[in-house]
Amino acid sequence: MELTLKDKVAVITGGSRGLGLAIAQAYIRAGAKVVIAARSQRTIESALDGLNAGAPGRAAGQACDVSDIVQVEALATFAVKTFGRIDIWINNAGLSAPYGPTAHISSPVYMNVINTNIIGTYNGSMVAMRHFVPQKSGKLINLLGMGDTGAVKFQNAYTSSKVWVRNFTKVLAAEYKDSGVTVMGFNPGLVLTDMLSQVSAVAGFEGKVSAIRIVAALWGNQAAVPAAKALWLASSATDGRTGQMVSVLTPGFMLGRLFTHGLRLLLRAPIAMMDLKITSVQPVMALVPLPVEETR
Ligand SMILES: NC(=O)c1ccc[n+]([C@@H]2O[C@H](COP(=O)([O-])OP(=O)(O)OC[C@H]3O[C@@H](n4cnc5c(N)ncnc54)[C@H](OP(=O)(O)O)[C@@H]3O)[C@@H](O)[C@H]2O)c1
Repeated sequence: MELTLKDKVAVITGGSRGLGLAIAQAYIRAGAKVVIAARSQRTIESALDGLNAGAPGRAAGQACDVSDIVQVEALATFAVKTFGRIDIWINNAGLSAPYGPTAHISSPVYMNVINTNIIGTYNGSMVAMRHFVPQKSGKLINLLGMGDTGAVKFQNAYTSSKVWVRNFTKVLAAEYKDSGVTVMGFNPGLVLTDMLSQVSAVAGFEGKVSAIRIVAALWGNQAAVPAAKALWLASSATDGRTGQMVSVLTPGFMLGRLFTHGLRLLLRAPIAMMDLKITSVQPVMALVPLPVEETR
């Protein structure tokens, strides 16, 4: 059965590029109207040109830093003013910090990740629930990510924020279980976006982060793949399934990819590697020296 979002209105934070933009495209194709948000007005405008080219009047956007509740409330007001209601809210805006030891990442950089991934998800969720609970319907989708179920060395800010998002989403779903609102977490797997291909690393840790090319070649997807899953999440197919944590990287998918790549190696077929841009950042004062082997 074809999934439809006919006449639904979706707000997608971080919708100006990457996964958020792919989700906006998928939702418009399924009949929805979308409001995209990001900090850069210029990027929003260029995304809107593309979104409205195929389906005029179906996409609108507003600059919004999700870490600021006033801007998130203004975004919801804008969505209602533009399209009359809100049915779907996706807290997709996200950031990662440079790859490296926690004590070498500057506090403002660390806090920027927390303010976007944690405070931004909190702000978006609260504003969305204020719309959804009275109308007894709505889909709230919070983006999970790598490390959301465990500890990952050298990615403390990002992975800790996603652990928080996972727990926060589960608690919210439990509290509003019988409200008619569906609250879900979504881990899109490895997505070939700027977040994956334009990374920064603390000086001395560039070599370790470059392994991401191999992982991305094995299990990476174009954004359209998780966007199709995000369409399923927002559709009536998930009615009554509140509290679900859905992941693209299932064991079956990962094994299947390993098998395909194994075959390619046997047949000596080329395996596409993404271009990776690594920017080095200077470590802040080495408060806590690392064991020598970690820096090799
Ligand atoms: N790529 C992956 O492999 C992957 C894997 C797992 C999970 N995810 C999650 O998927 C989501 C999207 O990732 P992506 O790969 O599409 O990232 P991306 O390509 O870097 O895009 C991030 C988007 O978020 C916006 N953004 C960043 N900070 C913001 C803020 N404070 N307020 C509002 N908008 C903000 C960016 O626009 P501006 O810079 O203009 O604000 C941009 O539109 C994130 O939550 C990420 O953690 C990604």
